[in-house]
Amino acid sequence: MSIESEFQTTFKRAAQVVARAPGRVNLLGGHTDYNLGLALPVAIDRAVHVAVAARDDGFVRTVSRQIGETGEFEIGDRQPVGRWDDGVKGAVAALVEAGGAPTGFDLLVDSDIPMEAGLSSSAAFLVAVASAVFTLNNRPLDGLDLAKTAQRIENDFLGTPCGLLDQMASVLCRPGEAILIDFRDLSTRPVPLPSNLHILVGYTGVARKLASGEYAKRRDECARAVARLRELGELGELGEKDATTLRDVSAEMLDRRRLDLDPLLMRRAFHVVSENERVIAGAKALEDGDLLLLGALLNRAHTSLRLNYEVSCDELDAMVTALRSADGVMGARLVGAGFGGCAIAVAEHDFDDGALAVIASRYKILAERDGRVFAVTPGEGASVRRVSA
Ligand code: GLA
Repeated sequence: MSIESEFQTTFKRAAQVVARAPGRVNLLGGHTDYNLGLALPVAIDRAVHVAVAARDDGFVRTVSRQIGETGEFEIGDRQPVGRWDDGVKGAVAALVEAGGAPTGFDLLVDSDIPMEAGLSSSAAFLVAVASAVFTLNNRPLDGLDLAKTAQRIENDFLGTPCGLLDQMASVLCRPGEAILIDFRDLSTRPVPLPSNLHILVGYTGVARKLASGEYAKRRDECARAVARLRELGELGELGEKDATTLRDVSAEMLDRRRLDLDPLLMRRAFHVVSENERVIAGAKALEDGDLLLLGALLNRAHTSLRLNYEVSCDELDAMVTALRSADGVMGARLVGAGFGGCAIAVAEHDFDDGALAVIASRYKILAERDGRVFAVTPGEGASVRRVSA
């Protein structure tokens, strides 16, 4: 059933605006976005759908089909309460901040992106909600504005210190392409995907609950590494103090300072610096149709995320091993923040249900728990439209 028909059934009235925002997988560029580095995501063919229609009584009523919950709040209520629809309040707050005067509305959301799996379900939710709420109030948002608004809701309203990778991927990706994002200037370049590239996702069955505290810790460690290098005089000549990030650090600089930098900070910094290099090499491998090299880069990225950045876990390592054991898989790595969620693999042919089930059964032997393995197709970025009556 379409989101419009679901809205009609749920609220007994017609939707006025519908929006869609996809999840993403990031081929390369793990934990680089908040270090102003590089990443190479694709949008996937799973998405959040939102439908809204205005109300004139100053109330917002929310219904989520995916989690089977409803909510209600007054349009002037700006207090997050730890509920699934806090992001809707955040979108209203962002609209007010942008000078809008929102009406009340009914909102229905449905999604087929697994939650807390590292596939950007929460960024896609906020992109779709912000896009629908702003359009309903005649202030449509697109491109980078939409991505940044969704990020601001997540950072400032919900208190999650995420970067801009997920939102930019959800908004800007196109079918058949990855995008190479440079987070220093937020420029993007489409990178066509070879026609024989297939992407698999392996969900570990472990929600990435631990992620937020550890994520903030990694951000802090990266900032400390930069501060120490500056103290050592390595970054002196580079512009404003606050503008300096690990993007300004090279592998040679780290090598030169290997005895001066705390070993833990060294490993964190080395991951980010080497991951940026892998993104550039990965974009070239895609352009050359070199899946062997692309796979090797994913494998190296996983090793670095596991050993240098320490964001893997037993289940992710088991899923990566299970994915790599399949004939035709060229490489695999954890995706998203880590600590659970999903791993991805790149493969040179497609996999039928039987072959996917074999990988899942290998994962079960290794991890002693159930996981799920499915194929994703690089899909369309976010969209919004008014529904004519
Ligand atoms: C999460 C965050 C992103 C990014 C990734 C790691 O998905 O939301 O901003 O930092 O982790 O690459």
